[in-house]
Amino acid sequence: MSDFFKNLDRKKIIVGTIYIIGAILVCIFLPQIMSFGNPEVKQTLKGAMKFFQIILFVFLLIMPVIVLQKGGGISNKNTKKYGDQGTATRGTIGELRDLCGNDGLSLSRNVRLSASKSYEHVAIIGPTGSGKSSAFFIPNLLDLDGKHSAVVTDPKGELHELTYRYLKSLNYNIIKLEPLNPKANEFYYNPLLIVEDITQIREVAQLILTNGNKAVEIATGSSSGGAEWINMSIPLLVAAFAYVKEFGNKKTINEAIDIILQNSLEEMERKFKKCPGAYRNFLIFKSSAGSEKTLSSIKSVLTTNVQLFLDDKIEEFTKSPIAVDDDGAKYIDMEKVFNPLILRQKPTVLFVCVPEIKSTYMMPLMSVFYSQVLDVCMNNKEGCPIFFLLDEFANIGVIPSIANITATARSRRIGIALGLQGVEQLRRNYGEENAADILNNLKAKVIFSGLTGDSAQYVSDLAGVTTVESISYSNNPNQGANGQDFLGNIISSVTGGGTSVSKSGVRRELLTPDEVRRMDPDDVLIIAHNKNPVFDKKNTYFTQRKYTLILEKFKPLNK
Ligand SMILES: Nc1ncnc2c1ncn2[C@@H]1O[C@H](COP(=O)(O)OP(=O)(O)O)[C@@H](O)[C@H]1O
Ligand SMILES: [Mg+2]
Repeated sequence: MSDFFKNLDRKKIIVGTIYIIGAILVCIFLPQIMSFGNPEVKQTLKGAMKFFQIILFVFLLIMPVIVLQKGGGISNKNTKKYGDQGTATRGTIGELRDLCGNDGLSLSRNVRLSASKSYEHVAIIGPTGSGKSSAFFIPNLLDLDGKHSAVVTDPKGELHELTYRYLKSLNYNIIKLEPLNPKANEFYYNPLLIVEDITQIREVAQLILTNGNKAVEIATGSSSGGAEWINMSIPLLVAAFAYVKEFGNKKTINEAIDIILQNSLEEMERKFKKCPGAYRNFLIFKSSAGSEKTLSSIKSVLTTNVQLFLDDKIEEFTKSPIAVDDDGAKYIDMEKVFNPLILRQKPTVLFVCVPEIKSTYMMPLMSVFYSQVLDVCMNNKEGCPIFFLLDEFANIGVIPSIANITATARSRRIGIALGLQGVEQLRRNYGEENAADILNNLKAKVIFSGLTGDSAQYVSDLAGVTTVESISYSNNPNQGANGQDFLGNIISSVTGGGTSVSKSGVRRELLTPDEVRRMDPDDVLIIAHNKNPVFDKKNTYFTQRKYTLILEKFKPLNK
């Protein structure tokens, strides 16, 4: 019941109060109203109507409840009447009650998930400018409860700028990472310092090469080497990573790439023999691509796909911070290395800022980054629960494990919200089947207006099929009116008989793709778990006092 009251917004409370006051006034003044000013009639009615006044008041109170419970369903009645054409119905916000709480992700103005339902993930689908940032990602940052950690994509650093003062007041530890502005960072991020075993090293190599390939494909419109070359290169890169992790001076990705580029097969073999993990992978590489000629082709594939790491800024961002101890010995200062475990250890909000125009270029690094953060959080269950607020998810690159992670993150108290411009983006990156898997695992879908094409079709399919009533009139000169119903009789008498009226149930999408596109820009459509599709108002932060008051209080001093 308390949830019910929490879900009521200010407007509804005002309208409800006015309605009740109106009902009381109508009942009290009923004799006056019904006597049309005639004092005698009024006196008679006053005596006789006490009981009727009470009945009317009770009726006026119950009526809105009945009407609201029925909801805006266009098909409830018709599906019952005509049976099986389709039974989809528009739901009411009240129907989502058992998904709601006050510690999870806010989907719309009146729907906030409970934390446990948020761990079953959310897809936010809407074209650019439809309000994904201002009506989902920003409000959810401002709704954080001080107990959940959060990882936030923040291309322009705007979300950080808007919210960090307030989040600090909730005792959050705030971290902002800007890979392309390494001087501004508090931490360095070196993937090779985070990996723990050869499987994880292989994952990093695979992510770098597939996303490097994808980035080149997007940038040039053509494939940079094909899957075969990439598969051949992976064991070599794994060998180099494993070697530098153990024996390297800097233990960086660049150091590993340099070893491959600067050494012949024989020289590499001599080095890698020192490190069993590296040597095993080198032998795998040699068995499939062991000649100097293939090596030179693979070097060229590698340089194309890993070129991001040769960028000065990225080299700086991914380096190992070296410090010198009292005895003059060098060591890696782990205090300055970003470790995703911090998200579990204390309530932390991590903002990751990569400008949108650089997102394709940055895919090899960002896919490794998010994948490692997700992995570390998945493997360490204890501590703070975490929300991943990943707006413009397609820009991060391809994270093949995301389907598995979304399927199993629930027990780890990890809630993932993915912002997408459309389902097309996801299909392009992951292929049709994986994209469908990922979308199925995001149990709540929040849809904004303006979607077209495959995305609009996807939402329409998701909303389901309903039955609507179709009335048809036909002229039959040989037959009199068949008297099917009142309307039919009237038409028959006007036309001189012979018109028959028939009603039938017709199958229709609850929402056609076109209706999805033309949704009211102020509305969101929520299709969550096993519930009916529900429309609600957008949770836009800059139009609501509960958010603007916070932002006003925590605005920068010089503004
Ligand atoms: N602080 C603000 N005040 C007024 N309008 C805004 C503000 N922030 C964004 N908007 C407008 O709200 C709309 C939605 O923007 P946004 O949330 O960034 O969309 P999306 O993230 O889906 O691309 C845009 O038309 C934008 O111009
Ligand atoms: Mg946005």
